[in-house]
Amino acid sequence: MADARDLLDAGERLGPEELRTLQLERLRASLLHAYEHVPFYRESFDKAGVRPEDCRSLADLARFPFTTKADLRANYPYGMFAVPRERIRRLHASSGTTGLPTLVGYTDNDLSMWADMVARSIRAAGGRPGDVVHVAYGYGLFTGGLGAHYGAERLGCTVVPASGGMTARQVRLIQGLEPGVIMVTPSYMLTLLDEFERQGVDPRETALRVGIFGAEPWTEQMRREIEERFAIDAVDIYGLSEVVGPGVAQECVETKDGLTVWEDHFYPEVVDPITGEVLPEGERGELVFTSLTKEAMPIVRYRTRDLTRLLPGTARVFRRMEKISGRSDDLVILRGVNLFPTQIEEIVLRTPGVAPHFQLRLTREGRMDSLTVRAEARPGATPEAREAAVRSIATEVKNGIGVSVDVEIVEPESLERSVGKIRRIVDLRPRDSGQG
Ligand code: DLL
Repeated sequence: MADARDLLDAGERLGPEELRTLQLERLRASLLHAYEHVPFYRESFDKAGVRPEDCRSLADLARFPFTTKADLRANYPYGMFAVPRERIRRLHASSGTTGLPTLVGYTDNDLSMWADMVARSIRAAGGRPGDVVHVAYGYGLFTGGLGAHYGAERLGCTVVPASGGMTARQVRLIQGLEPGVIMVTPSYMLTLLDEFERQGVDPRETALRVGIFGAEPWTEQMRREIEERFAIDAVDIYGLSEVVGPGVAQECVETKDGLTVWEDHFYPEVVDPITGEVLPEGERGELVFTSLTKEAMPIVRYRTRDLTRLLPGTARVFRRMEKISGRSDDLVILRGVNLFPTQIEEIVLRTPGVAPHFQLRLTREGRMDSLTVRAEARPGATPEAREAAVRSIATEVKNGIGVSVDVEIVEPESLERSVGKIRRIVDLRPRDSGQG
């Protein structure tokens, strides 16, 4: 087998100084491209009193204004594009929970860079040219399916474009075509796990070696569950359509210590979500990205609302980001206590007798919010085990997070299953009453 270093591409072989030089050069060109070709950026830079040439060091980026999802919506559909529409080869969109979708576009070069970054990600995850790759991310406007697809082709793999859904067929395809790699959301992987069991197929007996999971937050406990049940390596892939799609950051299988940010193309900052101030490496805050090489839709200081921290590189020269703990949008403030669904996931997944399926139900009576953790019993769990699970989850939430919740252990197979990104929070509070 080739030495792992021999497989690295030119960007991954840069030295730290070379990387900084390349980043600054690309950053300056990208700011200029945005300023010259997108009226939105011209206006926002002018308003902030900065010009692209004011960016003389990477730290100077902090002087530039942020871009938000609302800015993209306000310029729907084509207002954020820096090239004539005819040069846009493909569009994708992320389904907003409300109102207009966020539309993004790619030139030929953008599509090629994206495929390179996904190919790099699959390789970092342990995939190799010649592997069969089963893609169960949804194909369509969502960037997951097509993004993974072209990356796997670029690496030289045989792609199975399964997309999401038709779960019974997915299991038959995995058995029949013997993929070594699967790319899917972690929650849909659990749906597949149930289906393997339903069909009486041992999930540890497939040809799968590597799972590349992302598009939603997941925890170390979930990694352990998936790795044990499938006998594979489970690694994290991150991305968002506004920046490119999957392949912005990827966990390297040899270290499994957070995600390496492909920062020769996507420049990360972590800022204080309230003041917007750039935080030093190692401090937790909101992740912000600036594209360094995109043509169709350069993006400057995009506020992802994802919470993490930056860490020094290990497996690569590039910095890492810690696994995303949650999105600021998913933060539940329950009687003054902040809580993320991932914190509940950690607790549910280490509770005996309980399956890795759960849902958070928010209700309000009078002025009082309550949260019910609904988790599924494992098949065959005794009434005593279920009782113990209720007590254990409630106690751990109270002691670990500091708030009282109700816990309900529901029948096996009774909670809705994921076919893509899962929705953990079901908010049944009266509309417009906000959080409290
Ligand atoms: O979810 C792109 C993607 C597809 C990433 C497949 C990985 C795999 P969007 O639909 O625009 O794009 O959603 C982006 O999903 O801001 C995060 O909140 C969340 N997200 C994506 N990857 C992860 C991850 C795709 N690994 C939003 N961990 C992001 C936690 C993630 N959250």
